Amino acid sequence: MLDSYAVIGNPISHSKSPLIHAAFAQQTQQSMQYDAILAPLDGFQTTVTHFRQQGGKGLNVTVPFKLEAYQLATRLTERATIAQAVNTLKFENQEILGDNTDGAGLVRDIELNLGIPIANKRILLMGAGGAARGVILPLLQQKPSILAIANRTRQKAEALQQQFMAHGNTVAGDFTSFSDQQFDIVINATSASLHDALPDLPAHVFANNALAYDMMYSHEPTRFLKFAYDNGVRHLADGIGMLVEQAAESFFLWRGVRPQTKPVIALLKTKI
Ligand code: ATR
Repeated sequence: MLDSYAVIGNPISHSKSPLIHAAFAQQTQQSMQYDAILAPLDGFQTTVTHFRQQGGKGLNVTVPFKLEAYQLATRLTERATIAQAVNTLKFENQEILGDNTDGAGLVRDIELNLGIPIANKRILLMGAGGAARGVILPLLQQKPSILAIANRTRQKAEALQQQFMAHGNTVAGDFTSFSDQQFDIVINATSASLHDALPDLPAHVFANNALAYDMMYSHEPTRFLKFAYDNGVRHLADGIGMLVEQAAESFFLWRGVRPQTKPVIALLKTKI
């Protein structure tokens, strides 16, 4: 029987993970199966238990179950503990290992695929929800000169800053707090792009040669990326690279083999 993996979420039909992992498996010649599982909103744990009983080896976890996966894990990696969210489960005997590969995926995409070192850069991170929380520690570990966390609801940004201040130079505010400052890397981790909305960001926060990075993706450039382009930014990236890189991290955790991501990113761009 083939080793079996899946992505679990609700909704799930839009997920690109089966395509990505099939490409990784083919490229690395791993014999495995990877499916998409729609779990009922109140049935995450039951669905995971059933998958394990069928011999499942690991799961990617997506919206809205990352917190439940965090609670279900019997052992957590440091990055999952700090993110308070799990996007990867690995089943070994009685143990359920919970990991979070999102932040590592973002860092690898910025540094390796886009070729922009994070060290000594000024970063503005927009958003203070689960998506933002998951990437703060991995970003700080690359030693940016500052990480500013900006959120519509200022208190949530301040709470995150309090939590992470021991790990690096961080400040917090709302979108107008940094209107007199400029940043080399501006990352949109809000869910605004999902609703075709634009956070209320001052146009001049982009430094010369800045990178504008939207963790979301769609077949059209997001409102944030259009806004950045209209204000002179020429390094633009959406979340496709991060999506493939976080998948590669999960694949590595499960299979012990690191797939090449560039051809899979290129493949995905033709499918969005
Ligand atoms: P996720 O897990 O995707 O981060 P979340 O925890 O619901 O989802 O957080 C959504 C984030 O997007 C929050 O930072 C939210 O700002 P608030 O904390 O003020 O709600 C932000 N967000 C959503 N829609 C937005 C919009 N139209 N403009 C600015 N920020 C927005």
